Amino acid sequence: MMAKEQQQSKNEKIYLFDSTLRDGEQTPGARLNYDEKIEVARQLARLNVDIIEAGFPISSPGELKAVKAIAREVKGPTICALARAVQGDIDAAAEAVKEAEKPRIHVFLGSSDIHMQYKLKKEPDVLLEQAVDAVKYARRFTDDVEYSPEDATRAREEYLYTLLEEVIKAGATVINIPDTVGYAVPEEFGSLIASLRENVPGMDKIILSVHCHNDLGLAVANSLEALKNGARQIECNINGIGERAGNAALEEIAVALRIRQNYFPYYTDLNFPEIYRTSRLVSKLTRIAVPVNKAVVGLNAFAHSSGIHQDGILKNKETYEIIDATLIGGKAAQMCLTARSGRAAVSDQLKKLGFSLSSEQLETIYTHFLELADKKKEMYPEDLEALALDHLSTTEPLYILDYLQTVSGSKSIPAAIIRLKKEDGSTFEEVAIGTGPIDSAYNAINKITGLSIGLDSYRINAVTQGRDALGEVQVKMSYQDKSIIGRGTSTDIIEASVKAYLNGLNKLLRINGYN
Ligand code: KIV
Ligand code: ZN
Repeated sequence: MMAKEQQQSKNEKIYLFDSTLRDGEQTPGARLNYDEKIEVARQLARLNVDIIEAGFPISSPGELKAVKAIAREVKGPTICALARAVQGDIDAAAEAVKEAEKPRIHVFLGSSDIHMQYKLKKEPDVLLEQAVDAVKYARRFTDDVEYSPEDATRAREEYLYTLLEEVIKAGATVINIPDTVGYAVPEEFGSLIASLRENVPGMDKIILSVHCHNDLGLAVANSLEALKNGARQIECNINGIGERAGNAALEEIAVALRIRQNYFPYYTDLNFPEIYRTSRLVSKLTRIAVPVNKAVVGLNAFAHSSGIHQDGILKNKETYEIIDATLIGGKAAQMCLTARSGRAAVSDQLKKLGFSLSSEQLETIYTHFLELADKKKEMYPEDLEALALDHLSTTEPLYILDYLQTVSGSKSIPAAIIRLKKEDGSTFEEVAIGTGPIDSAYNAINKITGLSIGLDSYRINAVTQGRDALGEVQVKMSYQDKSIIGRGTSTDIIEASVKAYLNGLNKLLRINGYN
């Protein structure tokens, strides 16, 4: 037997029920159109979730049409549609999933006193009968019927025992316990699951499921605790999106089960390398950004910032990393360079960028890196590359920038004061005006050198991201019959422009034999 099969034969399978297209779509502002829903469903099939809850077909003709298309076109997972415990909803759900390879109808009805008394305004025994009738009716269309006693965590346990016994007898094949308002805490939720298994006859014939909301930030913890107490299906959503604070995040549950196999003797059939792609797709289409610190799929989930951590990671990844990003199809751990990063991390990043440096060169770059890192919150690899290219120029500069001040504004005449320094320590200062601060600075430099340099082109690029992005300026300059490219980078675009000009000027002067 293969290692994976051996492992699985010991462990029990957990069914992952994805409700991104139903509860997830209930996130304010997350509405998806027809094509987007199908695109997400196809990706969920690639991710190999067991069940896709594709929507709530009674809610609109467009929803019905989209769930129907998913049922017809998306193969692999069970396709499920939601219905209240009334015939009209069940008819719509049945119509929506009828072409699925494996159709499921999911029926729900309030079970707490609050829901029964205030929302449904019916007596518990009347509602119990309604639930039973609804399950029987749904079974006319499919053998796979899930029943959810809505708001179960605030319901009376005795009532749940009787209700669930009856809906199982009526033909429910999956019983799902929703923590609809995210009220439960792990130990309490686990013991509810355990007592339902103990006190509801017929529980051994069905799959017990949980559906946790995240109002107290406990959705994933509650779901995992439920598994320990006998649940075998978890309802969850990509990126944890969903009504209010969202639902349990699918990726967090799957990865927790995988990483802590020693604690959770279960497995899922999820195609892990598709996790990252699915997360990005859902975020893009729902227009809900993934928080940077989100477990498993956040931008920072695999980024190491402190110098001590970076040093540890370079010595052995396991010092500060329990998940390998490639498990979820993400990029390998990133050193996120900041002013706290040490030489080891900077040198490692430079090596990865293809620079092989002497220790002196490294020291030079590291000093400049610290200066820039103090100004920028974060240094991206592109920043470091730009910095290294800027400072490892093969020509020793004739002039370096010692001081720069510019004036600009809608009511002032653009002007610049520049002081340049030569290797021998001599300094040269000039003031000039121009069409703007950059033009003024270039004119001031020309006054210092006394040369008439042609500026053939000027280009600026943000080489990195964010408001404190590093600007890279590239200028094409010519003098006599020679023309060269000068480059400069800085978080200040005027400074970057002056550096680029000086870089070009120095090259031109060297080529022309100036000293
Ligand atoms: O949160 C909830 O109770 C639900 C049900 C429909 C399962 O979403
Ligand atoms: Zn829900």
